[in-house]
Formats: sequence, C-alpha cells, structure tokens
Amino acid sequence: MTPSREAWHAFLRSRRSVRRFAPRPVPREVLTRVLDTARWAPSAHNRQPWRFVVLEAEGAARRALAQAMADAFRRDLEADGLPEAEIAARVQRARQRLLEAPVAVLLAADRATMDPYPDERRRQAEYTMLIQSAALAGLQLLLAAHAEGLAGVWTCGPLFVPDLVRQVLDLPATWEPQAMFYLGYPARIPPPPPRLPLDALVQWR
Ligand SMILES: Cc1cc2nc3c(=O)[nH]c(=O)nc-3n(C[C@H](O)[C@H](O)[C@H](O)COP(=O)(O)O)c2cc1C
Repeated sequence: MTPSREAWHAFLRSRRSVRRFAPRPVPREVLTRVLDTARWAPSAHNRQPWRFVVLEAEGAARRALAQAMADAFRRDLEADGLPEAEIAARVQRARQRLLEAPVAVLLAADRATMDPYPDERRRQAEYTMLIQSAALAGLQLLLAAHAEGLAGVWTCGPLFVPDLVRQVLDLPATWEPQAMFYLGYPARIPPPPPRLPLDALVQWR
C-alpha cells in the first residue's frame, strides 16, 4: 500500500541528525541500498557529480584519515590560541567519532563533470551547481538511511582539509571532499532542533 501524504511528510520531518549509535553493525547490503538511492538525487545537467568513499570500520584508511585529520584540527585550534585542555578534548572527540562510527562515508564532488566556461561569472555558477548537486546526494543519502531505520549526521570536517583527505585516501585530483557522513543504528533519537517559522522564510509576491 502506498503511504499516505501525511506519512510521507512525517517521514521527511522525522529525519534527525544522530551522533550516537548502537553497537550494531550495518549490513553491507543495507549500506549499498542507501548509496544506490543516494545516486537518484537530481543534479545539474544530470551530471551526477557525487562520489562516495566508504571507510570500512577498523580499516587502515579510516585509521589513517582519523589521525591525519586530528593532527590538522589540532594545528587549527592551536593557531586559534585555545587552551590545551580544550584542544585535546575536541581533537579526541573528533578522532573517536570517525574511528567509532559504524559507517563512515566521505562525499566528494567531481570537478571533472563541470562544463568549462571562458568567463569567471559562468565558471562560478557552474561550480555552485556542482556543490548544490553533490549536497542533494548528501540529503538523499540521509533520507535513504532513515528509510532503513538507520540514522546519521552530515559533518563538514573534510571541507577544511580537502588536500589532506585526497592525499590520505589517494583520491583523484578532481574529487573535492564535501562532507563525512556517520551512519548507524541510533542509540536514541534526539528531540527535533527548532525550525524557523514558515512565515519568516517565505515571501509571496
Ligand atoms: C552542511 C552541513 C554541515 C553540518 N556539519 C555538521 C558537523 O560538522 N557536525 C555535526 O555534528 N553536525 C553537522 N550538521 C548537522 C546539523 O547540525 C543538523 O542538521 C541541524 O542541527 C538540524 O538538526 P536535524 O538534522 O536533526 O534536523 C551539518 C549539517 C549540514 C547540512
């Protein structure tokens, strides 16, 4: 039976960012279905610029990336002049998050899919389309995970160290890291963060 309109809206509204997971592995076929649905997101020129890198739990790639990103995060926080205790706590939290998530998926946008333009104005618009398209696959991934009873969170750490991520994971030069998704079966679903009222967001002309 097709779910009702109310059920679809409730499904879309009930996706939450979840940062704590049950110690229960995610079967590969479940994760494959999630990725398979993510690629049905819309994209500019239907160019499908999203690329996914699944970092296997306990795998060498995940360990190497966690260490490299932790070191880079520490350098940034030291440059900010934060107290050592706070730096150590934040770096450790970020590192553990990547090491312990049941699933970690890097989302990248492939610049090689972009149309070339001779002028900066159109190059910029084309680049914006690349990022917008990749982001839609990110949302679709989170919704597909939600449909599986999984939950997860979009994190933006890789955006701050794109060269490092490309180097550690040995990615093609045209792949621009956008986000790291942590997924798993939720330990608990947090209450919904508030939303701005519709009136504040919409203008009717
Ligand atoms: C572009 C983007 C970047 C985000 N970066 C992070 C992040 O680095 N760490 C984190 O814990 N959550 C991150 N989030 C999740 C947001 O905090 C979350 O979506 C927001 O608070 C609303 O909560 P909800 O997803 O449960 O509705 C990010 C979300 C988006 C869309």
